[in-house]
Amino acid sequence: MTNFISTDTFIEITYLTATVLFVLSLKWLSSPATARRGVFAGELGMLLAVVGTLFHHGIVDYKWIAIALVLGTIIGVPLGNVQMTAVPQRTALSHAFGALCVTLVGTSEFYLRAPDIPPFMMAVLAMEVILGSLTFTGSLMAAGKLQEILPQRPITYKGQNFVNLGLLSAAVIVAGVLVVHPEQMRLFPVLIIIPLVFGVMLIIPIGGADMPTVISLLNSYAGLSAAAMGFVLSSKLLIIAGALDGSSGFILSVIMSKAMNRSFTNVLFGGFGQIQTSVAAAEEARPVKSATPEEAAGILASASKVVIVPGYGMAVAQAQHKVRELYDSLTKRGVDVTFGIHPVAGRMPGHMNVLLAEADIPYDKLLEMDLINGDLPQTDVALVIGANDVTNPAARTDAGSPIYGMPILDVDKARTVMVIKRSMAAGFAGIDNPLYYLDRTLMLFGDAKNFVGNIVRELSGSDGHR
Ligand code: TAP
Repeated sequence: MTNFISTDTFIEITYLTATVLFVLSLKWLSSPATARRGVFAGELGMLLAVVGTLFHHGIVDYKWIAIALVLGTIIGVPLGNVQMTAVPQRTALSHAFGALCVTLVGTSEFYLRAPDIPPFMMAVLAMEVILGSLTFTGSLMAAGKLQEILPQRPITYKGQNFVNLGLLSAAVIVAGVLVVHPEQMRLFPVLIIIPLVFGVMLIIPIGGADMPTVISLLNSYAGLSAAAMGFVLSSKLLIIAGALDGSSGFILSVIMSKAMNRSFTNVLFGGFGQIQTSVAAAEEARPVKSATPEEAAGILASASKVVIVPGYGMAVAQAQHKVRELYDSLTKRGVDVTFGIHPVAGRMPGHMNVLLAEADIPYDKLLEMDLINGDLPQTDVALVIGANDVTNPAARTDAGSPIYGMPILDVDKARTVMVIKRSMAAGFAGIDNPLYYLDRTLMLFGDAKNFVGNIVRELSGSDGHR
């Protein structure tokens, strides 16, 4: 390369720097205050990894790489500009592409090396290909369900778990045979086809709304398959990046499952999201108190402490900027306004944080569940905006409820509760919410963006009259 530094040393330095940047990126991504820096560090790390790889001795011709770069850019740029609510399916598509790439690399490595593949190498290669193939079809299915190209509802049939377990066992057996007899090269396509089918079958029984948790799990598989590919290609960078991806995806799935008080088995095999809608419908007849934007504005203006609890409905309505106006209007009047953030409010991790950050709500006003729950009994008004399950007191009080044990935001302990939603319809869990029938609860029926906008208008109107 130059007289001072060899190409190998240059590659090692770029890889080492990329590895450090990936670790720092994950660290910074764990707090809203440093998340932007985390994204930038991750991007820079990936750029260095690509640049380092372009200097590799093994590359004899740049033509195909240039074509791939152009194609990748054409596909990647629009993918980066999707709506916030479409990020889960966009992420699933990225996993699908990554997993396809891992599978193709594994396949070419097999045919380049077979039949002289030592058992360890063949075992790792088999793991790479199995995880890659099942993540490819699994992620495509997940993206299709979230985009509603495929039916969202869980599809279950008798003996489903048996079929799935059978497929997985068959793939492991084929892998075992190839480890012992790598010369049985005609078995290799079977090692790809079975997990491709397994990926589809695995996702069929899972409801659309459970997909974010599953995507996080598929993210973990994609990371592990990339780490396995790192062993096959003797790339430390791939091993480390894949392991970081695999472990962080797994930890995220665990956090999400815990916050929903569900086990992995329940997410993967529970058929959740199709239950109890009839119960919710039956409950619709119970009387509730409702209020107008004018009445809601009056109550908020006379409060000293308000906690706003956003949920999926705020995301659907894209109400975050109106919520910012409400925050400004109330704080100007001297009202203490904070936000209660539930870890699984919305449909993806950090959904509420990202939306509120987009509207420039100060980070220090976003309080996590454990912190805000201590404040709620001393709160004058809890204003719930498009959140439902994460405020459902049945999770605390009703041992028969499907969400019993799920940690919730205790908004029912506030002096007054106001809930903005369009109807009495259930949330993601498909169950009724006793919060709505409490004496101190007022239902504010309407689209979140319109309703909050109307409250803000009432508040500024009353400012003019003061
Ligand atoms: P949900 O329980 O899904 O409730 C959202 C509510 O928003 C609905 O009841 C809906 O009622 C209302 N809504 C929808 N569109 C609206 C609009 N335009 N304006 C006003 N309201 C609107 O949401 P949540 O409380 O945020 O809870 C999240 C749920 O998703 C949890 O059950 C959680 O377990 C699950 N989940 C979350 C994640 C992650 S990582 N966040 C992953 C998987 C599953 P109306 O139809 O009556 O308006």
